[in-house]
Amino acid sequence: MSLQVFLNDRLVPKEEATVSVFDHGLLYGDGVFEGIRVYGGKVFLHPEHIERLFESARAIRLEIPMSPDEMTRAVEKTVAANNISDGYVRLVVTRGSGSLGLDIRRTSDPQVIIIADTITLYPPEIYEEGMPLVTASTIRNHPQALSPRIKSLNYLNNIMAKVEGSDAGTVEALMMNHKGEVAECTGDNIFIVKHGVLKTPPIDAGILDGITRRAVLRLAREAEIPSEEVTLTRHDLYVADECFLTGSAAEVVPVISLDGRPIGDGKPGRTTNRLLEAFRDLTRK
Ligand SMILES: Cc1ncc(COP(=O)(O)O)c(C=O)c1O
Repeated sequence: MSLQVFLNDRLVPKEEATVSVFDHGLLYGDGVFEGIRVYGGKVFLHPEHIERLFESARAIRLEIPMSPDEMTRAVEKTVAANNISDGYVRLVVTRGSGSLGLDIRRTSDPQVIIIADTITLYPPEIYEEGMPLVTASTIRNHPQALSPRIKSLNYLNNIMAKVEGSDAGTVEALMMNHKGEVAECTGDNIFIVKHGVLKTPPIDAGILDGITRRAVLRLAREAEIPSEEVTLTRHDLYVADECFLTGSAAEVVPVISLDGRPIGDGKPGRTTNRLLEAFRDLTRK
């Protein structure tokens, strides 16, 4: 049977899940989204994702035409209709169609799209052996231009950074903020371990308030691993003992080098592996 996509108020076969070419989501990247994992048929950290979606929408003055509870039920319905046990949900709300021009007052009918499918982002070896990273020259959004906390349909600078990574032969790339500090990767948050302390840039470094990042900070607390949210430079990463990334799609991925410099001994570190295991226990038990 064809994949069933939720569009506005009902499930339709994916071939019928279409939006207007006048939708400002398409014309201007005007809209918001979420990427969410499903484990054992259960939507992982569902309330946090729904809350972030509604906060992103509020920040861009987009009124979502359903309540958070209705959205939660629509996601669950889409997951169930497609028999997704372990998979991924892409939840998108566009501005809707309107006349050509940026004016949001000339748009109507925001489109709610929910896709539930399976996902394999990286091969299993990457979780065992770790991944190399390079620093992209493209920086993360300047917070005075568009808050990086908004998960908007505008991902072009992250895409350009990812192109830099692909050109250099890596699957992810490190992005700095406008001050030249470490921000995050193109679709993941970043952590290091130095002298037994887990460190990650604070939200006001201009990053997405990642939901996996929050989960890993909670796991670290439970495991009594000291952690701090602190400004990091590229130098801090070069001399770190360990490094890893977090994201809904990526989960927890060890990083073994940055810009050709091995991190620690160039292998996934002990604390990284502990947190990776704890994350697997949390999601797969
Ligand atoms: C730029 C960026 N940073 C970080 C993340 C990780 O966030 P989360 O753990 O909520 O998926 C994402 C995920 O989509 C992202 O796009």
